[in-house]
Amino acid sequence: MGPLQLERWFSSVVHGRDVASRKTMKNDLSVEEILSSVNDADWRSLEQQIASDLQDVIVSDPKNRAMDRLEKNYSKYFDLETWIRYHLRHARLMDLHSSNRPRRILDVGCGSGIFLHVCKALGHAGVGIDVNSDMYQRMAEILGVEYVPGLVVPFEPLDERFRGFDWITAIAIKFDRRDFANRDATPWALEEWKFFLRDCAQRLNEGGKLYIKPNFFKLNTLFEDPAITRLLENVASVQTPTGEFIIPREAVL
Ligand SMILES: C[S@@+](CC[C@H](N)C(=O)[O-])C[C@H]1O[C@@H](n2cnc3c(N)ncnc32)[C@H](O)[C@@H]1O
Repeated sequence: MGPLQLERWFSSVVHGRDVASRKTMKNDLSVEEILSSVNDADWRSLEQQIASDLQDVIVSDPKNRAMDRLEKNYSKYFDLETWIRYHLRHARLMDLHSSNRPRRILDVGCGSGIFLHVCKALGHAGVGIDVNSDMYQRMAEILGVEYVPGLVVPFEPLDERFRGFDWITAIAIKFDRRDFANRDATPWALEEWKFFLRDCAQRLNEGGKLYIKPNFFKLNTLFEDPAITRLLENVASVQTPTGEFIIPREAVL
């Protein structure tokens, strides 16, 4: 793809149906259409319940710093419109809006499952894995997506049940930062990444792909170790300026 084509393709994905050819987007939906498929009353009621549970914990344990952090952060998870818009862009980058057959997706570090909900609205099916969180579990139930609690652990394969996917996605992931380890734990090095990519690739169907969006380590830097960025660049068939990588299974195996 030349620079002009790449720019057009990227622009069509980012701006969605306004720019891209309508002919190829049989299944595409707007943010509003996807938003309307969520039971708003259940979603708001869960938000209120989480707020009230949090207050109870903060009152009974005022020195708990983790609760301070959660209190500041939890409400952003309930901003459905923002996250649907964010994840619809990923789904479009993966061509899930114009696919002529349902795809099976494993979303690693899925959070509450909003990406999988977007995929489901577009006609696909999937399962998500993330930490054992009651809040995520209940959000996933409202969104009608399958959520399996479980940790991604360096140099450990994912659960054997996870096989036969067309896509494995890892969006805005933090498991490579040792999120749940000690504060001084070092992030994944090159070998941990190689292991993870190979393990995921083995779980894909023929023609399957990985979609990886790392969290930026710091502004404009994906990883502390640039060798990891080079690894992803070398195996990716598509790399966007905003740090998403599409990696064909065959490039890793
Ligand atoms: C920034 S959030 C992104 C969530 C979701 N992918 C999204 O884009 O909305 C990072 C997620 O990684 C999860 N996570 C962090 N460490 C993990 C681990 N070792 N195993 C599984 N999930 C992990 C967190 O619980 C959190 O949901």
